Amino acid sequence: MADLSINFAGIKAPNPFWLASAPPTNSGYQIMKAFEAGWGGAVWKTLGVPVVNVSSRYGSTDYRGSRMVGFNNIELISDRPLADNLKEIEEVKKYFPDHAVIASLMVESKAEWHQIIKDCENAGADGLELNFGCPHGMCERGMGSAVGQEPEVLKTIVEWVMEVATVPVITKLSPNISHITDPGLASVQGGTDAISLVNTFKSIVGINLDNYAPYPDVGGAGSNGGYCGPAVKPIALNMVRELASHLQIKGTPISGIGGIETWRDVVEYLLLGASSVQVCTSVMHYGFGIVREIEAGVLQFMDDKGYDTIYDFVGKALPNVKEWKDLNLNHKVVATIDEEKCIGCELCYIACEDGAHQAIGLSGDPGNRTPYIIDDNCVGCNLCSLVCPVQDCITMDRRDDGKAEITWAERMANNDVPTTFNDSRAGGLGHYVPEPSLALKKNQK
Ligand SMILES: Cc1cc2nc3c(=O)[nH]c(=O)nc-3n(C[C@H](O)[C@H](O)[C@H](O)COP(=O)(O)O)c2cc1C
Ligand code: SF4
Ligand code: SF4
Repeated sequence: MADLSINFAGIKAPNPFWLASAPPTNSGYQIMKAFEAGWGGAVWKTLGVPVVNVSSRYGSTDYRGSRMVGFNNIELISDRPLADNLKEIEEVKKYFPDHAVIASLMVESKAEWHQIIKDCENAGADGLELNFGCPHGMCERGMGSAVGQEPEVLKTIVEWVMEVATVPVITKLSPNISHITDPGLASVQGGTDAISLVNTFKSIVGINLDNYAPYPDVGGAGSNGGYCGPAVKPIALNMVRELASHLQIKGTPISGIGGIETWRDVVEYLLLGASSVQVCTSVMHYGFGIVREIEAGVLQFMDDKGYDTIYDFVGKALPNVKEWKDLNLNHKVVATIDEEKCIGCELCYIACEDGAHQAIGLSGDPGNRTPYIIDDNCVGCNLCSLVCPVQDCITMDRRDDGKAEITWAERMANNDVPTTFNDSRAGGLGHYVPEPSLALKKNQK
């Protein structure tokens, strides 16, 4: 069987599946329960000067019957006294010496950083995570994302930390910034041992239509919160990828966070350069037990592909993430409908007719509801295959007959690109579009 153990910037763990700093890591009780369930590491709920929280404090985006597709919170860092947390860190380490216990920290002054680092190291923490992420509450006090959005300030604080830390330091980034590589690079320049991301996205999940307060409702008012859960995964994945492929950042271990729920999510983060992952929302939704499916799935994937350790495939997808200009313009696909599988719902027809390229036709025969593709009109955009509710009913078939590759970059180099508003080298020129008047019902057959 494959070996899941990791050495993440010097922090050893039996597997790369860690709990993110959040309510599931609020106490030693929860973390011991999680370790027994199979999690390999945990980042303790952020420690600092304890806070006072409001209620309610969570909101959710539910979508078509799925609860908590996106999750929003206005919770602050730990409200428990530091001494209690330190005592429990010590206890967890006694029971689980080989698991990773990482103390997440957020304080203000240099003296406070130095003191809390010493306290956590004395308690036996295997690593430290610097929380420069919370986009609510703490940032109003000059911490959290207020630091994550100012690379120079972030770098200075990482430097303060590195002056005294004797265990590995992970800098946790805020995604509330245009270029994630700016704080990423600042953290590397400050001397961080590793990076984790993402913390939550500044958000409002909805408004109560009776009292006009944003959710979560705190007595008729609310505040922007931090958004996470499955909805944020695509954005987080891209941020991980940007750091993992940045010339001056790559090589720094990355812990990937954001919307992880299944083994597949984990593998995707690893393929894009993360070498550990952290999970919050899906554990808050389904409990610690989800790690069993995650572990079994990752092990099966590794066996199927012949990988012995996760390092055999960390970053393996990175070379395939190119700039748009380097994609093959001659690669052409066209949709094909499998008549055996089609249930005649006509969703593909509506989508292509109103939202794409009018490349799907209907037979007009009430006895035959299977639409057909008009090959000449199909631009191979994928939309119909994405809306089709039947697995593999619409496939995209290659039609370029292996024509030589040509990229935009190469066409630029050859001076073979549209340069004027009516240039005949534009891609859409000559492509079928119906006459505008055909849109009117009276002109349709
Ligand atoms: C209720 C709640 C509280 C959180 N508290 C913290 C915190 O104290 N420190 C921190 O670094 N991140 C905190 N986070 C952010 C998570 O650690 C994580 O970065 C984020 O939720 C994205 O992961 P997910 O999509 O798996 O939830 C919190 C998230 C939630 C939902
Ligand atoms: S791939 Fe796009 S253009 Fe082609 S049939 Fe489907 S929706 Fe229409
Ligand atoms: S969406 Fe799929 S199932 Fe529905 S009509 Fe189109 S091909 Fe058939």
